[in-house]
Amino acid sequence: ICIVTFLFIHFLENLAVAGAATQSSTSENWFAEKAIDRGLQQLYTGCSSTLSQTNPWWRLDLHHIYRVNRVVITNRNDCCAERINGMEIRIGNPLENNSNNNPICAVIPAIPAGESYSYSCGGMEGRYMNLIIPGDMKILTLCEVKVYGEGKPNLALKGTAVQSTTYYHWGAANAIDGIRYAPGVASYCSITLNQLNQWWRLDLLEYYYIYKVTITNRADCCSERMTGVEIRIGNSLENNGNSNPRCAVVTSRVPPGGTVSFNCNGMGGRYVNMYVPNIQTYLTLCEVEVYGTGNF
Ligand SMILES: *[C@@H]1O[C@H](CO)[C@@H](O)[C@H](O)[C@H]1NC(C)=O
Repeated sequence: ICIVTFLFIHFLENLAVAGAATQSSTSENWFAEKAIDRGLQQLYTGCSSTLSQTNPWWRLDLHHIYRVNRVVITNRNDCCAERINGMEIRIGNPLENNSNNNPICAVIPAIPAGESYSYSCGGMEGRYMNLIIPGDMKILTLCEVKVYGEGKPNLALKGTAVQSTTYYHWGAANAIDGIRYAPGVASYCSITLNQLNQWWRLDLLEYYYIYKVTITNRADCCSERMTGVEIRIGNSLENNGNSNPRCAVVTSRVPPGGTVSFNCNGMGGRYVNMYVPNIQTYLTLCEVEVYGTGNF
């Protein structure tokens, strides 16, 4: 039992460490990042704090959608422990109202000075974790915040892909084989013929709200071929899905073998297209990854 417990703790990764923290205001040098610095959490010097204000908040961007299982919050130990009373933990993807309208995981009645309390969030999905104290003249101070959960898997791996034309054996499915890059001549990549208006389409088989699309370029040559690719997301198959709303255009050159991500802000749809309008090229994709959620 002792060994099992040790391994369990050892492999639980605190997601907050790799995140980015911001807050509604900052008191002196009580920066938002101090709540995720993993150290000095028992000393007030290692804590974040807002000014006294209405509805102060602190937000953690996990950079990816997670199913959050647990949030651990450490209160300051030098004074003012009651200031944390009534703080809400909110988790979700929208940035509306600085993410303070996202669903509530827990409302914290109180945390004794210097103590760390753990809250179960039952796998709530989100990229942002907010802590907010509703009310006037409130000060939000945090000495350490830890977040535990699992990353949402790449939705593309469960989908199917087709493309306008295929160059030899470089089929559409190579862009969703889970391999971003392998040595060799565009191995594990999809390539169309060198024609105008080429496209590649992913069918996710279900409707999703999509927050991130990641594309990996080929490494061996021709990296410029990715420039001009448009990411389109929606439910329509009109014009092969290429008329669906646009999330992004690849405007700057993606380096050979490079991976770029685009934020699609919860655009809804079953189909994700890569489309190069009005350009004659071999549309080449070594990997397309899609991250999103079934409920907004
Ligand atoms: C923004 O969030 C705060 C805190 O939850 C809430 O009191 C306020 O009503 C929200 N504002 C809007 C415009 O939704």
